[in-house]
Amino acid sequence: MPETLTITDNRTGKTYEVPIKDGTIRATDLRQIKFDELDFGLMTYDPAFMNTAACRSSITFIDGDRGILEYRGIPIEQLAEKSTYLETAYLLLNGELPTQSQLDEWTFNVTHHTILNEKLKLVLDAFRYNAHPMGKFISMISALGTMYPEAKNIFDYDNRQKQIQRIVAKVITIAAFGYRHMVGMPYAYPDNDLSYSENFLNMIFKTTETKYKPHPALAKALDVLLILHADHEQNCSTSTMRVVGSSHVDPYSALAAAAAALYGPLHGGANEEVIRMLTEIGSKDNVPAFIKKVKAGEGVKLMGFGHRVYKNYDPRAKIIKQVAYEVFEVTGKNPLLDIALELERIALEDEYFVKRKLYPNVDFYSGLIYQAMKFPMDMFPVLFAIGRTSGWLAQWQEMLLDADQKISRPRQIFTGSPRRDYKPISQR
Ligand code: ACO
Repeated sequence: MPETLTITDNRTGKTYEVPIKDGTIRATDLRQIKFDELDFGLMTYDPAFMNTAACRSSITFIDGDRGILEYRGIPIEQLAEKSTYLETAYLLLNGELPTQSQLDEWTFNVTHHTILNEKLKLVLDAFRYNAHPMGKFISMISALGTMYPEAKNIFDYDNRQKQIQRIVAKVITIAAFGYRHMVGMPYAYPDNDLSYSENFLNMIFKTTETKYKPHPALAKALDVLLILHADHEQNCSTSTMRVVGSSHVDPYSALAAAAAALYGPLHGGANEEVIRMLTEIGSKDNVPAFIKKVKAGEGVKLMGFGHRVYKNYDPRAKIIKQVAYEVFEVTGKNPLLDIALELERIALEDEYFVKRKLYPNVDFYSGLIYQAMKFPMDMFPVLFAIGRTSGWLAQWQEMLLDADQKISRPRQIFTGSPRRDYKPISQR
């Protein structure tokens, strides 16, 4: 079977043959299709990249119809059950699970890079008391990058690994300091005896005790949530990381941009919106009326439902739902759970949602867990950003080393005015 596509341009009657590779044609192969000599050549119009592969990637595989998610070939369910966040981060960044000595070295390096330059506390002090922690996170990542001017040497392997270790290590400190600043508590410093997730909980919740030891079930739950959020191929924030990184800026600046993309309510901000929605619904009895409003298309969406890629139950949501029950064993049940379960039950039976293949996504239950663990809502996207940091860095590194990649620069279809003369203000 020839792996080609034959295209006839009915404007000119000419026929072209373009190669098909991996079920894809190269958009630039269409440029030879011209109406006349002056024509720029045929382009594709694909707002929001609904059907455009912008890279080749060997990091994360998603089958949205079957609800499959794999990191480097390993199913997310196995990683959630058997791995740790740092091991998974290593897998994403390096392509293989680490040996014991590799894991020890990686864990040691991350653990020993968690301290922030004290000057960065002054950046936090510049924020108002009620500044959103995600805004602080984004700014702090950018400010952190200025501490390491050598980070711009992105094609130097050792230098790149050093920055990757630093970023993975310091995002938990930045996130925790942002939280402590928000609630007016003194900063708690990292404790190298603790695991990555334990250390984060230590910096968030430690008060006067000399040694903070989080509840193992809560530390485990957080670690699983970080694993589930670690990568999700070419989503909005990861594409941002790649696009900004394609200008060859340092990874801190690219990561700040990626975090900004994540902040939006249609992306990582959705878990926060889910809690707001459940609180507003208020009780199980109000669920049918709310669903009616959503279906009426009055601009109300069922937050935590639907996904650009998954047209089946998001496999992460399944795991998170299970984790939620484990966390509630320790914290007591989140009273919003009953409303969430009722929403899910009704939506999964309702023709509107069934027809559109709208299922719970990763954000539907994660907020309930974070809230039960006593994280304020504003912190939810920050927690997402911590987990996604390893994925952003893995994708950034892959992009840098990909010979096919250049600076990202989409085309446009110009719809503005044809050339015209400037009119003096008196004549307008
Ligand atoms: N509630 C109600 N209707 C919805 C929802 C929803 N959550 N999501 C999609 N729809 C409807 C749309 O109105 C549209 O209906 P129509 O065909 O009658 O116009 C149809 O389903 C298709 O939806 P699109 O908006 O075309 O789907 P798209 O792929 O562009 O959007 C998105 C995906 C942004 C996630 C969307 O489902 C949404 O807004 N969900 C709520 C926000 C959310 O939970 N975001 C988190 C995503 S996961 C993540 O980022 C980690």
